[in-house]
Amino acid sequence: MDEHKGRLRASELEDSGDVGNNPTQNLTMGEIIATRFNRRDLLRGSLAVAAISATVGSRALAQSENPAKKPLATSFDFKEIEAGVDGTHHVAEGYDAQVLLRWGDPLFPDAPEFDPMNQTAEKQARQFGYNTDYIGFIPLDGSSDHGLLVANHEYTNEELMFPGVGVQNSKDVNFSKMTKNLVDIEIAAHGGAVVEIRRVNGKWQVVKDSKYNRRITADTQMEITGPAAGHERMKTSADTSGQKVRGMINNCAGGVTPWGTWLSCEENFNGYFWGKLPENHAETVNYKRYGIGKPAYAWGKYHDRFDLAKEPNEPNRFGWVVEIDPFDPNFVPKKRTALGRTKHEGAAGIENKDGRYVVYLGDDERFDYVYKFVTAGKVDKQNRAANFGLLDEGTLYVAKYNADGKGTWIPLVHGQGPLTEANGFKSQADVLIETRRAADLVGATKMDRPEDIEANPATNRVYVMLTNNTRRTEEQVDAANPRAKNAFGHIVEMMPEGGDHASTDFTWEVLVKCGDPSVAAVGATFSSETTKDGWFGMPDNCAIDSQGRLWISTDGNSAEATGRADGLWALETEGELRGTSKHFFRVPVGGEMCGPCFTPNDESLFLAVQHPAEEDNSTFENPATRWPDFKDDMPTRPSVLVITKQGGGKIA
Ligand code: FEO
Ligand code: CA
Ligand code: CA
Repeated sequence: MDEHKGRLRASELEDSGDVGNNPTQNLTMGEIIATRFNRRDLLRGSLAVAAISATVGSRALAQSENPAKKPLATSFDFKEIEAGVDGTHHVAEGYDAQVLLRWGDPLFPDAPEFDPMNQTAEKQARQFGYNTDYIGFIPLDGSSDHGLLVANHEYTNEELMFPGVGVQNSKDVNFSKMTKNLVDIEIAAHGGAVVEIRRVNGKWQVVKDSKYNRRITADTQMEITGPAAGHERMKTSADTSGQKVRGMINNCAGGVTPWGTWLSCEENFNGYFWGKLPENHAETVNYKRYGIGKPAYAWGKYHDRFDLAKEPNEPNRFGWVVEIDPFDPNFVPKKRTALGRTKHEGAAGIENKDGRYVVYLGDDERFDYVYKFVTAGKVDKQNRAANFGLLDEGTLYVAKYNADGKGTWIPLVHGQGPLTEANGFKSQADVLIETRRAADLVGATKMDRPEDIEANPATNRVYVMLTNNTRRTEEQVDAANPRAKNAFGHIVEMMPEGGDHASTDFTWEVLVKCGDPSVAAVGATFSSETTKDGWFGMPDNCAIDSQGRLWISTDGNSAEATGRADGLWALETEGELRGTSKHFFRVPVGGEMCGPCFTPNDESLFLAVQHPAEEDNSTFENPATRWPDFKDDMPTRPSVLVITKQGGGKIA
């Protein structure tokens, strides 16, 4: 995490413009109510209650008053691991962690073996890419032992990938060592992969001669669909139609739809554009709001489309949710503009009780927003092909959290409220291209970096990971973002009105404020059952297993920040144990924990170790760890792992 350890590429991207990216004067709730207690504390008006709920959680409190209500889910019975930081990964006793896919692993029968001293873009495009964040598993024939793994390749660390390069940035070295070959390898290492995998005699393996295997890169031909497709602001000299774009970039988390497509989300796309817009260019305000103009990569040095002076509209073609059919390796990925343009963390969805599909979307920036998209049509279970246009028509909403524990989804629809020509929105395309500015104008609640959001189909409750925001001041504290200088983040639980995810009304509460509960000043609210190893900071990705239980992966823990590496924790959401967290897995030094993804039978869990060894002064030659190969001639390699229980059975 940037504030704590000066991470290199990740911090550069995450900091690449978020000072004042949200310039609006939307009232934070702290300006309405000066309070640091959560909703239920306020309703009950009692400090004693506040003290109790701070330790046991408000749902447990409600349940203790209503003993007839049975907890919905079981608790976790694995033996917790010890929190800490070292050069390798650790999983709970009785479980195996198998390295399934490493950066550079060949994905096709004719793909070259990985040779870090002689890498090329052509080789990289046939091998597994770098820094996987999202992982999805799409079963083949309903199997939990055979399916398609879909994985995003979010970004690249040149200092760890390439010999003799070191950190390349604009500030200190002006990208002086970035050759065209290195840039093209980076472009080929971004994007994503579809990989057929199969479990044989308990061990997972890659099916290299699969007809499904595919690499998607930051150069793959894609189509732009939905209301912004074909708009003037989407046209470039290479694409006068405004409907074709090459590549997806910085794909963070995502989702899998009920019709078996993969949603891959462009997050910090801003860092890939170089140069300056022409003076007084029409996109100046738009690009400032997204932090565009401070390059973290040198792609614009060799490719005009990443140079703002040469292709001023190109950034409008990034920042979208991309839908990909993993069953068709020739499928042209679709950027679904109806879901808005933000720094999309993820796009996990749920089939609503009326058959419509609802996608929850976090915009990962300090003081940015939580969104959802509700399709106009219904999921068609009889005819898969009929679902491929579903994400082109529907309504995008942004969340407003009120201090009384209620909230509203505000539609971002052209012509409604302030989203009119007077404010520069001539059509829905303008609303979507400038989603953030539209959300500013309707008065959405500024959040502490919304990351992954997952709905629990068993309860219809929705979990929002808010990773941290150390720039929130005391004056900006509100009920949904209850801590100033929020270094460790928190999780908000949302309850859609009547269990209807299409409803514009919801209630909400803070599930847990993260950080070390033994330090009073931190104000963490894990239950008192949580051990010294069990708490975490900086929630990021999450997953709900088939038993309806919540698992959380983190980004930003370190020896300095929290005395622990990032990892995976299991968090109780129901019953008396609500707010109890247990430590299941941890990553090697410098890494971030991503995935997580369970097979439908909960017997295999896919995890991604992103940017291992990403530490100050860590390089290709001298990395903080050589995980996972630990060979002197191999650099560290971001990898996907699969966790299984020794002797078989569910991960419990
Ligand atoms: Fe790519 Fe918000 O993490
Ligand atoms: Ca994430
Ligand atoms: Ca992250």
